[in-house]
Amino acid sequence: MTRILTGIQSSGKPHLGNILGAIKPSIELSKNSKNESLFFIADLHSLINIKDSKIMNENTLAVAASWIAMGFDHDKNYFYRQSKITEVCELAWYLNCFTPYPMLSNSHSFKDKSDNLSDVNSGLFTYPVLMAADILLYDSEIVPVGKDQKQHLEITRDIAKSFNHNYGETFIIPESKIDKNVQTIPGTDGRKMSKTYENTIDIFADEKSLKKQIMSIVTDSKGLDDKKNPETCNVFNIFKLIASQVEVKEMEKKYTEGGYGYGHAKTHLFNLILELYYDERKLYSELIKNKDHLFNILEKGERKAKIIAEEVLVRVRSRLGY
Ligand code: TRP
Repeated sequence: MTRILTGIQSSGKPHLGNILGAIKPSIELSKNSKNESLFFIADLHSLINIKDSKIMNENTLAVAASWIAMGFDHDKNYFYRQSKITEVCELAWYLNCFTPYPMLSNSHSFKDKSDNLSDVNSGLFTYPVLMAADILLYDSEIVPVGKDQKQHLEITRDIAKSFNHNYGETFIIPESKIDKNVQTIPGTDGRKMSKTYENTIDIFADEKSLKKQIMSIVTDSKGLDDKKNPETCNVFNIFKLIASQVEVKEMEKKYTEGGYGYGHAKTHLFNLILELYYDERKLYSELIKNKDHLFNILEKGERKAKIIAEEVLVRVRSRLGY
């Protein structure tokens, strides 16, 4: 069994970009029977930015409901909230004492914000150390992440090696898995789909809001009769990520022939999303209404995860002489 672990940012309801770029590929990986997957909601990392208990709670539930709705098998694997395995904070402290200051001051997560130091809390500064603790606490072997997290994985490996060098083999040195095939998903304005740009398509939103988002996709001003270029059209570029090859060819033909308006293409995209994600949308809306059920699922995962965490910490404490 290969142990796969990844942390999921809990920044609210996942959008199409998150689904195609992260959730689906991770779930695929977890379906391999040779893998054992630990997927957790990184709600301690969220505290760096989110200082509102209601939002914290809602975000956690939305993330949990989406992963389950998209088919993550939480029975076979591990699905938990980072904050519930408090051992991670103890380990993070130990690891802090093996982390050279320059390693953190060179980390992108800090550097990007360091021109305004009064806005930086030490949680942001030590973000990579908590992330190292997330990974090392569970003897993780493979960590699938986006390219932006590559440096954090290198920091994790360096910290683990430094500890092992001092105290003998204690931690497994994890490998990152950066999927180069994952494309950037364009948002409604053609830039990368992201909450920050407010250009997302929220496949779990109610029909009315979803329609509004799709109708807001930016296009050029060609009229109904004009021949259109599919390649430069945001509607087509989103459509082709989810449609079948036949559907893509059909739409391409309509664009190049003319007599097919952007409104038609948007309606087509809207209907395709409703059809394609019918079951997932239904499941999501049922799950999100039933908080107790979601919490029960997470608690079950937390009980299992805690067993591994405790074992590893016993090993670490004894190495340290505590
Ligand atoms: N920092 C990761 C991100 O922003 C989330 C994360 C937290 C994570 N802890 C982790 C990812 C441990 C992998 C392993 O996406």
